[in-house]
Amino acid sequence: MSKNKTATDVQTWDNLFQQAVAAMQNSYSPYSHYKVGAALLSRSGKVYRGSNVENAGYTASVCAERTAIFKAVTEGEREFVAIAVATVNGGAPCGICRQVMREFSRNLTIIIGNSQTGKYRVTSLAELLPDSFGPENLPEI
Ligand code: THU
Repeated sequence: MSKNKTATDVQTWDNLFQQAVAAMQNSYSPYSHYKVGAALLSRSGKVYRGSNVENAGYTASVCAERTAIFKAVTEGEREFVAIAVATVNGGAPCGICRQVMREFSRNLTIIIGNSQTGKYRVTSLAELLPDSFGPENLPEI
């Protein structure tokens, strides 16, 4: 387990990770067959689940993390505490998803786990996306 994590407890991580594993069931991944599930905890306490949704025009595919974030944002959420991501082999969030997380959070607890073993690690957005570019970098107009 890495340092630098934000303050959520083990029970929260366990619960969020289990929800990410459950979200893998709704993955639409007929091309890669790589199911990804995400569960995003908002400051309001609600959890938004997402899965990857692929497309025959491959570049139109969307990752699980962004599905969860866009669901939450379009429901009026702007502040997030943690996101869990589950895959069969414990893969980490892609760079585009990290940047989308950064739009709404300077730091975010990120739980990355393996659905087969049930094991996960806890890290943070600051760790996965150091020296990042965010909304504050744009001059006000
Ligand atoms: N994928 C995600 O859902 N999240 C990531 O962070 C990495 C990749 C999906 C996209 C695609 O549907 C499949 O995994 C293989 O790349």
